[in-house]
Amino acid sequence: MIKLIDITKKYGEFTAVDDISLKVKQGEVCVLLGPSGCGKSTTLKIINRMLEPSNGNVLIEGKNVRDFKPELLRRKIGYVIQYVGLFPHMTVGENIGIVPKLLGWEKVKISRRTEQLFTLIGLDPGFYSNKYPHELSGGEAQRIGVARALAADPPILLMDEPFGAVDPLTREILQTEFVKIQKELKKTVVFVTHDLEEAIRVAVRIVLMQKGRIVQHDTPENILAHPKNKFVHDFIGADRALKRLSRFPVSNIMREAPVVKSSDDLFKAAKSVDKRGFRFLWVIDENEELLGWIDTTRLIRNKEKKEDVITRIPVSRIAVRSDFTCKTALSRMLAEGIKVVPVVDENQKIIGEISLADIEKITEEVAHTWQE
Ligand SMILES: Nc1ncnc2c1ncn2[C@@H]1O[C@H](COP(=O)(O)OP(=O)(O)OP(=O)(O)O)[C@@H](O)[C@H]1O
Ligand SMILES: [Mg+2]
Repeated sequence: MIKLIDITKKYGEFTAVDDISLKVKQGEVCVLLGPSGCGKSTTLKIINRMLEPSNGNVLIEGKNVRDFKPELLRRKIGYVIQYVGLFPHMTVGENIGIVPKLLGWEKVKISRRTEQLFTLIGLDPGFYSNKYPHELSGGEAQRIGVARALAADPPILLMDEPFGAVDPLTREILQTEFVKIQKELKKTVVFVTHDLEEAIRVAVRIVLMQKGRIVQHDTPENILAHPKNKFVHDFIGADRALKRLSRFPVSNIMREAPVVKSSDDLFKAAKSVDKRGFRFLWVIDENEELLGWIDTTRLIRNKEKKEDVITRIPVSRIAVRSDFTCKTALSRMLAEGIKVVPVVDENQKIIGEISLADIEKITEEVAHTWQE
């Protein structure tokens, strides 16, 4: 969908972008990642012709962007500017509607679209539409920035550090919201950040840049597991095995969990799961709510009485949901000192379990060196 061919951008003798070639597939979030000054924003601006390259071509759906009329480029490409960049003397509603207005949409259509976008980003149009940018919090302003870029429903979205100007917590909320919205809208996105955690959260593919060049272009999983050289290795940090876990949902390694009702014969149940190679047996009550677990080895060895054998647990503290990441599951295990945690559905009913051993298998895929 988007193709950069041999793109170079020079400022006098200085080369800001150095012979970059890159393809971004339809519906993919491609993250340009790298330290400050490596050429990310420059590359982004070349895609929508805010900057002209010194050399090379950009194709969108096979057509050179030089041959697009400016109006068509506006309709095809939404742009979220680094540091938000809302127009201070326009209301929030007018800011969102600016591209549709430039495209000559009718007033009614613009206001309907604006209202839709407010809903999409989770802000009340009645309350926010007539406010001015300086009356917004950082997180709200960044949401408006995204809404404005989406206004004319462009198939392509360019986002330059869209969540850069807020605190880490708000940033994480905005990233999660973005991932959710993107799942629905399936835009082709080029997303610039210098924040690795952010890249890991939102990217389908990461383009890691250094001094105007592409160093590695791959999925976050592969970059974290197999950094190409020392620069990548150092950039992603020593805890890359852990960071990588956040790319794997619990559902990937969830397995069937052995379950018994507290009113059943616990000893018999323990014997049977022990034979199947499980050590821990989950105990539920009559309403199928999780009460705790039984260590079957201990029960079989000691033949303890029923009252003693169930380790009772507050489910909310140890259970995970299938859409949680393996990183979250691991922190639950470490915090509670247990090697297997239950996976529950939205009604807190157990639907499976995951084990520390299976999480370790994922971390073991991480190479210890880079190939140079
Ligand atoms: N108009 C300009 N004239 C001269 N040099 C420029 C100009 N614009 C950018 N540069 C230089 O080009 C390089 C790349 O800039 P760019 O804005 O693409 O970096 P970036 O990767 O987006 O960095 P950041 O993370 O800080 O936003 C920088 O070294 C910058 O100083
Ligand atoms: Mg930049």
